[in-house]
Amino acid sequence: MQKVLGVSGSMRDKGNTEFLTGYALSQFDESRFSSELIPLKDLTIKPCEGCYSCMEAKKCIIDDDDFEFVFNKMAEADGLIIGSPVYFSAVHPQLMSLLDRAGFVRIWSGERFSGKVGGPITVARRAGQNMAFAQLLMWFFINDIIVPGSSYWTISVAGAKAARDAEDDQEAQLHISHFVNNMSKVMTALK
Ligand SMILES: Cc1cc2nc3c(=O)[nH]c(=O)nc-3n(C[C@H](O)[C@H](O)[C@H](O)COP(=O)(O)O)c2cc1C
Repeated sequence: MQKVLGVSGSMRDKGNTEFLTGYALSQFDESRFSSELIPLKDLTIKPCEGCYSCMEAKKCIIDDDDFEFVFNKMAEADGLIIGSPVYFSAVHPQLMSLLDRAGFVRIWSGERFSGKVGGPITVARRAGQNMAFAQLLMWFFINDIIVPGSSYWTISVAGAKAARDAEDDQEAQLHISHFVNNMSKVMTALK
């Protein structure tokens, strides 16, 4: 059984990013894929200190937060879906802290993300979607992760009124389902 990990970068309780990242995981065929959602709102991830200690230590030396727990889940997963709310046209800073540290530890600890399959989901109330989506794509590409396409970008316009209004964004759900279908095909081919 192949494993898919979803990471939601929203701090909001039952927010749109958490809903859509969970929705993506729910679209995988349960008989072939196991899935797990990690909402970062429940965890503490400190920013990268830029100490470069991971070059020698082969791990992050900040050990008083939840980074290692999430990094190990990322390393174990065959598929990775990263969801973020758009904050001033960018990825949420706590999620970026995770991705900065995971990407750097990955480099020095030996190509642990190579051959995984995955992609981003972003949620914005109105604007800045392209910048945040591209920011996540850049992270996937430099980490040697294979990113399938979809019928449209896997984005949602939500969050203006209620925390959960991505539930009404049928178009986002359609393109996310299509993305999961493509991701499943690539993962199966690489198995
Ligand atoms: C600090 C902050 C900055 C935001 N910046 C943007 C933005 O640049 N563009 C936008 O369309 N929405 C922006 N929003 C709205 C969120 O992207 C929107 O509410 C989204 O649904 C949040 O996702 P969540 O429900 O998963 O937390 C911002 C919200 C906050 C709190």
